[in-house]
Amino acid sequence: MKAVIVFDSVYGCTKQVAETIAEKLKNKDYEVLLHNLKDSKLKSIDCDYLFIGSPTRFGKPTRKLRKFLDAFDWNNFSGTVVAFDTIMQIPENDPNMEKTKAKYIDNGSAPTIKSTLTQKGVSVSDKDLRVEVSGLKGPLVDDALDNTRAFVDELLSH
Ligand SMILES: Cc1cc2nc3c(=O)[nH]c(=O)nc-3n(C[C@H](O)[C@H](O)[C@H](O)COP(=O)(O)O)c2cc1C
Repeated sequence: MKAVIVFDSVYGCTKQVAETIAEKLKNKDYEVLLHNLKDSKLKSIDCDYLFIGSPTRFGKPTRKLRKFLDAFDWNNFSGTVVAFDTIMQIPENDPNMEKTKAKYIDNGSAPTIKSTLTQKGVSVSDKDLRVEVSGLKGPLVDDALDNTRAFVDELLSH
């Protein structure tokens, strides 16, 4: 089985998540290609699972990631997309928690990746991976990478 992980990352947190997904898939005997959108253009993708991830910034994916979703030719892609993102952790005592979540997180990168590609007719997994960072620029919260590994385990168990 083959997996490709396409991601963008500004401060390195989403990159760490992408690398952890890659490591976990390799442990499960997947052939894995890890692709940072900063490196080059991807012309074609041939795999069973395509993980796509971005930090959530201003409630949406980075421009690079959005451009990739729009510009890539999805017609010849036959695998399943799995969306992931990194999001800020809202302090539990934040009196505006619900409002902040609704504005900056609920429709963030992973949900946008899912809806954009579903509209384009791509097969997209219902399950997405949303990983918290503890400050605006990171780092990842303590259990972030354990949660990432558990997500991959759960996804592949079906
Ligand atoms: C300018 C800016 C805007 C941000 N906007 C959001 C946001 O709308 N929602 C959110 O959950 N996190 C937001 N964050 C936190 C990012 O999610 C965090 O920087 C990102 O997860 C780090 O990932 P990276 O290291 O891969 O860039 C923002 C951070 C910055 C610096």
